[in-house]
Amino acid sequence: MNESYDWDSLTFSLTPTEIMYITEIQGDEAWMPGKLQPYGPIPMSPAAGVLNYGQGLFEGMKAFRTSKDRIVFFRPEENARRMQRGADRLKMPPVPESVFIDAVEQVVAANSHWVPPTGKGAMYVRPLLMGSGPILGVAPAPSYTFLIYVTPVGPYFKGGVNAIDLLISEHNHRAAPGGSGGVKAIGNYAPGMKPSKDAKKLGFAEVIYLDAETHTCIEEVGAANFFCVKGKTLYTPELTGTILPGITRDSIIQLARHRGYQVVEEKVLADFAMEADEAFCCGTAAVISPIGSITHGGKKKVYGNGLPGSITTELYSALTGIQSETDDDVFGWLHELPAQ
Ligand code: PLP
Ligand code: COI
Repeated sequence: MNESYDWDSLTFSLTPTEIMYITEIQGDEAWMPGKLQPYGPIPMSPAAGVLNYGQGLFEGMKAFRTSKDRIVFFRPEENARRMQRGADRLKMPPVPESVFIDAVEQVVAANSHWVPPTGKGAMYVRPLLMGSGPILGVAPAPSYTFLIYVTPVGPYFKGGVNAIDLLISEHNHRAAPGGSGGVKAIGNYAPGMKPSKDAKKLGFAEVIYLDAETHTCIEEVGAANFFCVKGKTLYTPELTGTILPGITRDSIIQLARHRGYQVVEEKVLADFAMEADEAFCCGTAAVISPIGSITHGGKKKVYGNGLPGSITTELYSALTGIQSETDDDVFGWLHELPAQ
């Protein structure tokens, strides 16, 4: 561990580390394990498919230094599989799970001194898959690059686990049926920057997107999934293809059911969510972030006087307890970094 680093200062921002992983293939060649090289710019054709037509995917996962002094990944196989589904959607050659897992292990091991101490944050692992070869017509690129860089991170939202204020986006949508909302396509994110910045100017932490067809159902919170709680039941929007299937979302569903809560995956009307007792959003970066209020049109719903709800807090402790190994890994979600 980097003993002299001020780990308490970590935010969700880029702290460049020394080593990245990269591998490239031509056309439909089989992916082969790549190599580690110094972190830094990569040469790329101005006509690269990813630069011109957005043929690219990213992933986001975390490695933790646990209370048992191990370095573990949280469900990295799920990230590998999601990237494969995304590759299929964007007509890129999918990276085999074995190559993906070997790559994340190699790059985290090479930068292991940047994995924060237990409880101070995590190492964020960012795999990218892109059409890096030149192409002029709108078509799959002739060659592909799979690379991974890592960076230590702290909380995604300012204020850590404090409840956040959210604004329902009245004029913008994140995804439409048949589009790419269900995969982590890089092109899904730039169109969210203006709505997000505009909401931040008004004092909100993020926007909530509604479905593009009826404009009545909650889909996602910026780059995180949505849950609300009524009594002892959790509600989260069902996966219809326009919502990213979050790995944290899936973990929370399993954790909540294991703890005796009912979880309903169905369409969640904004009006219904604004009558709920608690609400939170979740993701690798966001972990579980309690929602203090939602503003929709002229209406503002405040949850629990703006303080995190008890079920939200319980699930936060359960999830982070597994990730830090202060609780048992009853679901087998942790993947230890092998000794190199
Ligand atoms: N929704 C979107 C749009 C995201 O970008 C993310 C982040 O990956 C999530 C939800 C949460 O997914 P996960 O829990 O797998 O990080
Ligand atoms: C994540 O939760 O990993 C994300 O991808 C969120 C954001 C940084 C895009």
